[in-house]
Parts: sequence; C-alpha cells; structure tokens
Amino acid sequence: MSKRVLTTESGAPVADNQNSATAGVGGPILLQDQHLLEKLARFNRERIPERVVHARGSGAYGYFEVTDDVTGFTKADFLSQVGKRTETFIRFSTVADSLGGADAVRDPRGFALKFYTEEGNYDLVGNNTPVFFIKDPIKFPDFIHSQKRDPFTGKQEPDNVWDFWAHAPEATHQITWLMGDRGIPASYRHMNGYGSHTYQWTNAQGEAFFVKYHFKTNQGIRSLSSDQAAELVGKDANSHQTDLLQAIERGVNPSWTLYVQVMPAAEAADYRFNPFDLTKVWPHSDYPLQRVGRLVLDRNPDNVFAEVEQAAFSPNNFVPGIGPSPDKMLQGRLFAYADAHRYRLGVNHTQLAVNAPKATEADNYGRDGLMATRNGRRSDKNYEPNSYAGPSQTDAALSAPLAIAGWTGTHAAPSHVKDDDFFQAGELYRLMSDDEKSRLIANIAGGLSQVSRDDVIEKNLAHFHAADAEYGKRVEEAVRALRED
Ligand code: HEM
Repeated sequence: MSKRVLTTESGAPVADNQNSATAGVGGPILLQDQHLLEKLARFNRERIPERVVHARGSGAYGYFEVTDDVTGFTKADFLSQVGKRTETFIRFSTVADSLGGADAVRDPRGFALKFYTEEGNYDLVGNNTPVFFIKDPIKFPDFIHSQKRDPFTGKQEPDNVWDFWAHAPEATHQITWLMGDRGIPASYRHMNGYGSHTYQWTNAQGEAFFVKYHFKTNQGIRSLSSDQAAELVGKDANSHQTDLLQAIERGVNPSWTLYVQVMPAAEAADYRFNPFDLTKVWPHSDYPLQRVGRLVLDRNPDNVFAEVEQAAFSPNNFVPGIGPSPDKMLQGRLFAYADAHRYRLGVNHTQLAVNAPKATEADNYGRDGLMATRNGRRSDKNYEPNSYAGPSQTDAALSAPLAIAGWTGTHAAPSHVKDDDFFQAGELYRLMSDDEKSRLIANIAGGLSQVSRDDVIEKNLAHFHAADAEYGKRVEEAVRALRED
C-alpha cells in the first residue's frame, strides 16, 4: 500500500507536523506557517451547539421490515407489502443532561427513527415512555429549564424539578412511570420505544385512522436500580454507548417489533380519554396492539460527529399516508425541530449524508444558503411554476383532512369523560407488584425529600394522594421519615 501523505486542507503536502515554523531557532512563530494557523483555527471551531435537550446520544443504521399487512389503515409505500425493507437510522438519547453527562441516569430516553423511504424520509421522533410530562408546548421551555442546570448554582436542583411538577398535576402519570422500575434502562437495547403522540394514518380510500406506535424490544426489558446506576456511572459514564457499539460490532443486532394501536377517526370525539392528550395512554383493552414489522440495527456509524451529532430528526417529516393529529404538543414540535436544526446545523442540514433522502432525491426550488452542496441541476430554474419541466406538485394530500370547529383563543385541551390528571397515574400504580411499589415510593421520596420548601412538597404530595390514596400516604410517610433523619 502506498504511504499516505499528510496534507493541508487544500491538499498540499505538509513538511513538518511536529515543529512550527519560527524566525530562527528559538525565535517567534512565522505567520506564514499555513499548516499551524489552519490547525489552530479549525480546532477552535470543532464544537457546534449541542442539542438543547437530548444532547447525549448514540446512533445506528439498520432496516425496517414489514411483517403484517396494514394497507387497510395506511397508504404509506414503505408499509405497503409484507417483506418490504426500508433503510433506517436511529438515535437514542438521554434528555436532561448536557453532552458531557452520563448515560445511566433516571431520565426518559429518546428513540428517534428515520426511515429512508422511496417517498422521502419519514421521521418518528419518540421516547421510551408512552406518555409525557405536559400536554401543551407553551410549557416546554419552562419544563426543561426546571430539569436542567439552575442558572445560579449551575447544577440540577431538586427544588426546581419538583417546583415545576408542583404546578403541573398532569405530570403525575409520567412521574410515576419515570420513578418506577423502567426509569433507568440498563441499555438502549433493553427498552421499548413509543411514538407517544397520536398520529394520523390515511389509507388509499382516503379513510383516516388515529394510531399510536409501540416498538417492543426483542432483547427483553432490563433496567437498573438507582444504586446499580450510580455505581455504573462511576465505572463507565458512556455505558449505553459502549453497549450499543459493542453489540453491533459483535454482530448481535438488536431488534424491536413494531405494533400499532389503531382508532378509526370517527371514534376519537367520544372516546373516554382525549386521544390527543400526550399525558394519557389508550388502554390495550380498548385498542389492542396490532403487529406491523421489525426494526433491526446492524451497522454502527463510521463517524460519531458526522452521523450522530449532525443527525436531524423532525416530527413533521411525513410521507403520504401518515400525518399529524391535533395533539397540541405534537403541533408545537412540528415547528421546533427544523428550527433547532437551522440554528444548530444550518439551513442546508438536509444535504448532510445522514439526513438526505437515500431512496429518492429531494427536488425543489429551495436554493443557496451556507454550505449548499446540492443546489439544483444544471440549468434548472429556481422558481415555480415555470415552462421548463421543473418539479411540480402532485395535488394529492399526504393525509386526510380533519374537521374543526369553534373559536380561536388560548384554550385548555378538551376534557373527555374519563379525563383528569390522576386516574391513569393511579391505574399504573395499582398495576405494580408490592416490590415495585416500594421501589417507586423510595425513588420519589429520595428526590422530593431534598426539596427545601414545605409548600412545594405539600403540592406534590397532593398529586400522589389524588392518584391513589395508598400511593399518596406511602409517599408522604417516606418523605417525612427521610426529612426527620
Ligand atoms: C412541545 C414539546 C417539545 C419540544 C418543543 C421539543 C423540542 C426539542 C428540540 C428543540 C430538540 C433538539 C433537536 C435538535 O437540536 O436536533 C428535541 C430533541 C428531541 N426530542 Fe423533543 N421536544 C418536545 C417534546 C418531545 C416529546 C414529547 C418527545 C417524545 C415523544 C420528544 C423527543 C425528542 C427526541 C427523541 C429528541 C432527540 C432527537 C435526536 O436524537 O436528534 N420531544 N426536542
């Protein structure tokens, strides 16, 4: 093999990579040392803004294979045939900590999946939890501020975490989930993924359905206790990255089975829970899981920065047959992600290899901007309509239209018969075994007892009492015992 020559960024050979050029031996450095200047300047520019949430993550390529016929519910081409395979890229993440944090922490995990379909990229940007803390996007920046570092102390503060939750009774369901046994997954391979929101599917006849996605891990659920996690963080802060990377390198390819819950659109209005409320699940007895296919991860990225740090997922990257529901949180997210990408990666982030469509080509009249590499074909016009056979619209809506009624205004989410902030949290508590309940109580009390203000503790206790009398009583006793210590 011929010896590789070290070059500058413009490709010229470098004579010396160990000694900078000076005016005489021992003299000051010469401005003409292009290699030195380039090296120092590039180094200063290595970092890009980290994601404002979900900063820490790990990625992998793989494929999705359809195993069951769902054409009755969606016309999406990548789901149109049993056996059809579509290339995918997934990024798993933790939420609250910054890039330099640790993996084995009590926190939801991101489950962001890109399907490179023949009709464009479809992004499903979910979590490992079926529900979320809040139901209106206007609360998201405040929520995240309360969970991340305090601007004065520079640390995550139990006072802030629980003060926000004291004012967000709708978070009780997700808190019960997070403080329970699944709150610290043993690895990214050993957890489920959920779309969490309700999405809309539309079939070839134009009929609309509402769906929820469930990716069930085929590795089995494995979680860590708070003590196990603390020990692991001390040994390997990158434990999830280590696990995923090594499993795929060994050829142990993790997989998940995708199921959906399907609700005919006409049933949404009278369902006992608001089907577009992200703090609620649809009990499987109401809408059973129906199998769709299998996600397999079989290839590590070659370069973490290029492919994982620069990966950009957006919940509004839909394909024909799949669309948004009126879930207010989802609607907020339809704006937030691409906006974050334009800030974090620039307007041409969709041209980066990991983000660009692979099974089709983007063809439109968007042009120019920083770092444009694909900027239209030679002699293409950059306006539309035109008389030169440029790309034109299909006139086929991606998903069915939804009827709406009422007045504009700042409305709270509509409440259905069984909707309150506590019923499903209580149901989740009552489903747990005695041991699980004890661990849940200990985890909640461990955090809540660190709060400095009694009124904030009282407000939170009221939420657990409202979910289930026994649940509330046990948390209250455990908090009191820890505070008396
Ligand atoms: C209104 C509520 C929300 C807002 C405004 C919001 C906003 C954001 C933003 C700005 C990012 C960083 C994107 C980037 O820089 O690439 C992000 C990342 C992420 N969010 Fe959200 N988010 C919300 C709720 C949710 C929910 C409910 C889920 C899950 C169901 C979720 C899952 C994720 C995931 C998985 C990532 C990481 C994506 C990746 O790996 O690149 N978010 N979110």
